[in-house]
Amino acid sequence: MKLTVVPVVLSIVCGLVGLNRASAQALEGATLYNNNCTSCHSYLATSNVRGTTAAQTRAAINANFGNMGQLLLSDAQLQAIAEALSNTPVHVTGQLVSNNGGILTISSAGTQSSVATNANTTVTITGIAATVAGLKAGMAVHVTSVGGTATAIVATIPILHVAGPITAINGVQITLQQTTGPTTFLTDANTKVTVKAKASIVAALKIGMHVTGTTELGTATLITATVPIMHVAGPITAINGAQITIQATTGPVSFATDSNTKVTLTAKASTVAALKVGMHMTGTTELGKATLIAATVPIMHVSGPIMAITGSQITIQTTTGPVTFLIDANTKITLNAKAATLADLKDSQTLAAVTALGTATTVTAKG
Ligand code: HEC
Repeated sequence: MKLTVVPVVLSIVCGLVGLNRASAQALEGATLYNNNCTSCHSYLATSNVRGTTAAQTRAAINANFGNMGQLLLSDAQLQAIAEALSNTPVHVTGQLVSNNGGILTISSAGTQSSVATNANTTVTITGIAATVAGLKAGMAVHVTSVGGTATAIVATIPILHVAGPITAINGVQITLQQTTGPTTFLTDANTKVTVKAKASIVAALKIGMHVTGTTELGTATLITATVPIMHVAGPITAINGAQITIQATTGPVSFATDSNTKVTLTAKASTVAALKVGMHMTGTTELGKATLIAATVPIMHVSGPIMAITGSQITIQTTTGPVTFLIDANTKITLNAKAATLADLKDSQTLAAVTALGTATTVTAKG
């Protein structure tokens, strides 16, 4: 058999883009060779037709050597195979898609290609001597290959920056809502975590925290988490155990309270248990839990003729409609400027009252 080594002319080698395209094509050619030629001409690296040209292969196909006539390959494909068979080193820069027992698949400029490795393939990862087995999907690689087998691989680990609120935590897996869409990554024992600027652990991260961080090959190396502080304000509309609902201007807001919730009631230290529906509050919440609640009791001034007295409950007719309030032991009642009791009040009288949370503190009646 006659082996003529003809230097492959890379007609489009004029600038890096052209070179990279030619290189990707050569690696593509290696795949074509593996699929169409290996069975009869041995592996690419040890092929007995190394250095052959596309024209020579076309001639062999036309001559139907060893049934080669059955090969349906275009001129471009034969050219790609010829490049893979050439002894000229080809270079490809891209991202490692997979390392399948030393067969590397590389994605470069949208094209995938494969290259073999052998015992002579030299590997460095981030500047440190390594082995082919150490190459992992996601690494950035620069591969030099001859005849479809890598001679040198220079790999680096891309560092990705991520930022956004945590939307899901699934064991060691965390999902963030980035401005560009959701992103999911793993954490491990080496992930450095800070929460509110203090050293922390992955287990302390919670949905709703805001995170900036870096990932390498899908695993977080650094996570810096902050807890967004929300300001809430409005009247309390419901209290359900430790859960409080208020009517904010934007709609109802519910949050939890706990033993760390600082409560003040009309500017005095108080407790969650002292809060009542109808009170007005401003406060801050972190991750759905109130840290601070400042509550006040709205004071109402009402006046009008008495419509009904039922037990300790009085209904008066105000200009805006009927208003009902309670009288209790602390209600100060006067009738015609003299101290009086609930029993002294009659349907025929008119009164002015100051109420807090539906109970009158003072009642001034005339009639
Ligand atoms: C089914 C077996 C078979 C397959 C598949 C095959 N060949 Fe061949 N090829 C042969 C035989 C047999 C010859 C003639 C004897 C020889 O030179 O080894 C030959 C000859 C050649 C020659 C001519 C060598 C010379 O001396 O001029 C080239 C070039 C060649 N093949 C390239 C290829 C390429 C490239 C592929 C894949 C696209 C391929 N062949 C696929 C069997 C095959």
